[in-house]
Amino acid sequence: MIRTHMSDQGLGRRRLLRGVFLGGVALGAAELVGAVAPYLRVTRVAGLGTTVSVGTRAEILAAFAANDDRPILNYAGRFFLLHAPGGIVAAYRKCTHLGCSVPFNAAEDQFHCVCHQSRYDKRTAVVLGGPAPRPLDLFHVREEAGVLLVDTNPLGAIVRADNVWDTSVLEVRA
Ligand code: FES
Repeated sequence: MIRTHMSDQGLGRRRLLRGVFLGGVALGAAELVGAVAPYLRVTRVAGLGTTVSVGTRAEILAAFAANDDRPILNYAGRFFLLHAPGGIVAAYRKCTHLGCSVPFNAAEDQFHCVCHQSRYDKRTAVVLGGPAPRPLDLFHVREEAGVLLVDTNPLGAIVRADNVWDTSVLEVRA
């Protein structure tokens, strides 16, 4: 009788310990899932790297006409729409010198990088002065159902080695 009672006690203690252990493991796993889950889920896709809708060709041309061909900034996509000779292009606003974000300077009527003073033409983004080695890169633009779409993947951008305007880069003619 005594031996049976003691083994019952041992069995109960082992069950209790196993329950505590499994409970701890389950709690740890739940905390791990809670901590990692937000990083596994894509919650928002916007800006650089995505395809950005910028309106119809007519809307964009009307905006150029109303503002003396002033470049149209898309802040999230990090590009300017330019009224290039013969069409519309999207210039990645990353300076080709050392990568600063290039602003349009309305007073000078040109792009003017404040980091080291590179200047770019407002319609073609070719270099007008400063240390930049080549024009601003261009994002691909396509038209679907009457709307222009800009592919802002920097890895697919059009890199122009020569500092001249070349109409072969035009994908949307206007
Ligand atoms: S980063 Fe623009 S001029 Fe140097």
